[in-house]
Amino acid sequence: MRAVVRVEERVAETPTTVTLRFRYEPDASPGQFVMVWLPDDDELPMSLSYTRGTLKGVTIKAMGETTRRSLGIAPGQRIGIRGPYGNCFDPTPRRILVVAGGSGSAVLAPAVEAARALGGEVTVALGATTAPELLFRERFEAMGARLVLATDDGSAGEKGFVTGPAERLLREGSFDAVWTCGPEVMMRKVVSAAGAVGLPVRCSVERHMKCALGMCDACALGPFHVCVDGPVFTDRQLASAEDFGRFHRDASGRRRPL
Ligand SMILES: Cc1cc2nc3c(=O)[nH]c(=O)nc-3n(C[C@H](O)[C@H](O)[C@H](O)COP(=O)(O)OP(=O)(O)OC[C@H]3O[C@@H](n4cnc5c(N)ncnc54)[C@H](O)[C@@H]3O)c2cc1C
Ligand code: FES
Repeated sequence: MRAVVRVEERVAETPTTVTLRFRYEPDASPGQFVMVWLPDDDELPMSLSYTRGTLKGVTIKAMGETTRRSLGIAPGQRIGIRGPYGNCFDPTPRRILVVAGGSGSAVLAPAVEAARALGGEVTVALGATTAPELLFRERFEAMGARLVLATDDGSAGEKGFVTGPAERLLREGSFDAVWTCGPEVMMRKVVSAAGAVGLPVRCSVERHMKCALGMCDACALGPFHVCVDGPVFTDRQLASAEDFGRFHRDASGRRRPL
């Protein structure tokens, strides 16, 4: 499915991140992504940060030129959407530890919403460079999730990377599953810490994408195409993807260290 949609709402979530809400009919599940086409510009993969009903949403962090320009999109402007694509989080585990870094909350927030709606107990270890960049802090609180914060500069919660509190929670807490999205080096540490206490992990992984249909190989990760085999992977799958947490591929397909 694809459509040109009108942006209904624009919410500045953090100094570098905005949410665009638009009406888009197809059913979607937390974890899935859409390709967002910005007229006269580029097409980018974006997780759906709002999946319920027809008023969907994407939450975009300024990373490069196109995402920076997308922060300037105003209500009333039109964008192209195709999808949703990819797989989703299974919301049924009873006790979930969520480890979110930076814009990783965009995909994890609707997944936590789905788990809470089923009565799941969710602890969110939420990390960012600085307090104003903690994405969806209030949204997670409103869902009734337990929040543990970490910032690189110590302006909210613990000072340092979110992997610190995440590793402590894994040692001390009682969880059935771990979900994570954020910088890949962070996710690699989370997978390793969860493995040490025997917990299954689901990671939402990003790679450059072009077709989103499993045809162009732009999103190759070991034996997988992130667009059709993911973007949500199990720890077991990632064990067979040696690039995970070490290398990515640039727009021309060249392997680059992270
Ligand atoms: C399935 C999927 C879901 C995504 N969901 C979101 C989301 O919900 N919110 C969000 O803000 N971003 C998300 N991204 C990442 C987003 O697509 C990229 O940040 C964006 O394409 C960068 O485009 P650009 O032209 O602005 O940056 P570029 O100029 O292309 O790159 C700027 C910097 O961003 C890095 N970068 C580019 N593409 C990616 C990528 N795919 N993953 C990680 N780093 C990248 C580059 O290496 C470079 O350092 C997602 C990516 C995928 C694959
Ligand atoms: S983006 Fe083309 S194969 Fe995944």
